[in-house]
Amino acid sequence: TPVVTVPELSLVALVGASGSGKSTFAARHFAPYEVVSSDACRGMVSNDEDDQSASADAFGLLGEIVARRLRRGLLTVVDATNVTRDSRAQLVALARAHDVLPVAVVLDVPVSVAAERQAARPGRGIDRRVVQRHHDQLRRSLRGLEREGFRVVHVLHGVDEVDAATVVRER
Ligand code: GTP
Ligand code: MG
Repeated sequence: TPVVTVPELSLVALVGASGSGKSTFAARHFAPYEVVSSDACRGMVSNDEDDQSASADAFGLLGEIVARRLRRGLLTVVDATNVTRDSRAQLVALARAHDVLPVAVVLDVPVSVAAERQAARPGRGIDRRVVQRHHDQLRRSLRGLEREGFRVVHVLHGVDEVDAATVVRER
């Protein structure tokens, strides 16, 4: 079974298409406040987790929360798609600014799985084309994650590996 090792003090960036199971994975393996979610931040600034027009404010808030947690020496998981290089660069910069190790955990599930799960969630407003775009971006991202500054990169291939994975914290 895949073992996802993370340093005890790290910034863990989940990377995965919408519907890939990031929030489910985060809830299973981390404590509630350890997980900072872009959707939750969108909800806090706009009353609507799906309001994409609130993204700038949401990510501003997310960065603020992450920075303050890292400053306090708390492991923090960023639950957002993180499929673009720019989004990840901000997280790597935050980790470096706080002397914390940036870790990437990639949920590389088939696009069909992610799209079907999304379709089963009414009102999400995310269609198949968006999931496909996320998936393409993720694929292009895979090779370069170490070079972007992630000190540890775990790629979970497929639903079975995501389901079977355990998370181990190392000092
Ligand atoms: P976004 O927040 O839209 O980016 O998606 P996400 O990556 O956080 O996916 P999420 O964890 O919300 O999972 C999407 C849907 O798939 C939810 O309805 C979950 O219940 C379901 N799901 C997640 N993981 C699994 C899994 O391992 N098995 C099954 N059967 N369903 C899952
Ligand atoms: Mg989610």
